[in-house]
Amino acid sequence: MIALIYAHPYPARSRANRVLLEAARGVPSVIVRSLYDNYPDFEIDVAAERKLLLESQLIVWQHPLMWYSAPALQKLWFDTVLANGWATGEGGTALEGKTCLWVTTTGAASAGYTPGGVHGFPFAAFVPVMEMTARYCGMHWLPPLVVHGAHQIADAALQQHAAQYRQRLLSFAAEAAGG
Ligand SMILES: Cc1cc2nc3c(=O)[nH]c(=O)nc-3n(C[C@H](O)[C@H](O)[C@H](O)COP(=O)(O)O)c2cc1C
Repeated sequence: MIALIYAHPYPARSRANRVLLEAARGVPSVIVRSLYDNYPDFEIDVAAERKLLLESQLIVWQHPLMWYSAPALQKLWFDTVLANGWATGEGGTALEGKTCLWVTTTGAASAGYTPGGVHGFPFAAFVPVMEMTARYCGMHWLPPLVVHGAHQIADAALQQHAAQYRQRLLSFAAEAAGG
């Protein structure tokens, strides 16, 4: 099973993540957990989230990039679900050996993520916080799927990213099933 943890604070206004999510939803083994739909009061059902993670081999974190990081509810999900003694620390081995894929969209075009650009650093400089969140829990880290310029990107290019996303999920599911 693939757990897709989706965190978009304004899903009705989404363009890029909506397209990506629809592509992923079509993959049979994907279970989508939409955090802002499920927990509008920020009261995360930690037991339910953990149950899904335990049943999953691939964990996807999909969200728009916000302040170079994850939206607030995704961050709270990290704080509460990946707690010490469960996913980290002594006896915290629940996610060891699982795989993590980060899927994110940025408002800025890729040119913004260069030394002279508006965000000052290459995008790779902003990856380690997410990467180490996964690795600290003992998960394997896959190359992230990043869509830059989420508001300007042409429909065809966005659809290409969505197709790649879907293909990566299908490949993972096929490999996990032994074929
Ligand atoms: C509060 C907030 C913070 C944001 N921070 C960033 C940022 O750090 N870097 C960036 O490139 N875009 C940033 N954006 C733009 C979003 O990433 C962009 O609107 C989103 O990826 C578009 O995806 P969507 O069509 O699914 O909504 C931010 C947007 C908001 C509302």
